[in-house]
Amino acid sequence: MVHQKKRDDALALQDCYILNLPKIEDSRGNLTFVEGGVHLPFDIKRVYYLYDVPGGSHRGAHAHRNLHQFMVAMSGSFDVILSDGHQERTFHLNRSYFGLYICPMMWRNLDNFSSGAVCMVMASARYDEGDYIRDHGDFLQEVAR
Ligand code: TYD
Repeated sequence: MVHQKKRDDALALQDCYILNLPKIEDSRGNLTFVEGGVHLPFDIKRVYYLYDVPGGSHRGAHAHRNLHQFMVAMSGSFDVILSDGHQERTFHLNRSYFGLYICPMMWRNLDNFSSGAVCMVMASARYDEGDYIRDHGDFLQEVAR
């Protein structure tokens, strides 16, 4: 969906991508690890997770002005729909050895949670409500600037 002309230096959907993590396969069980600044393009300041998500629930519906995030389906699966205000793309997360890097100024919706899904998010900063854009109209105005 095209709303407004995009600034040349603005972040776009192409700046968000799936990142594969190291996977140490072992007959005793597999092991995956993440080091901020090494496997991710930011240092990890905060980790949070969504769990016990009732079927049919939607999460997200906001953007962040400055926050970088990395989202992993630690268990089960869900969809992340990203929009830069111009284009939209759906990412299906369903394994704990890869995740989605989300750059700042991306509107995101999370839905289609399977039963038992756990969404873990690594973030570049501590919680700051001032960094959120929760109104979609405000988001479209900010990306058009
Ligand atoms: P929110 O980010 O809106 O959740 P989601 O995007 O998953 O739908 O956060 C929901 C509530 O939790 C909101 O009141 C803020 C609070 N919260 C914190 O206090 N600390 C945190 O690190 C996060 C992510 C949320």
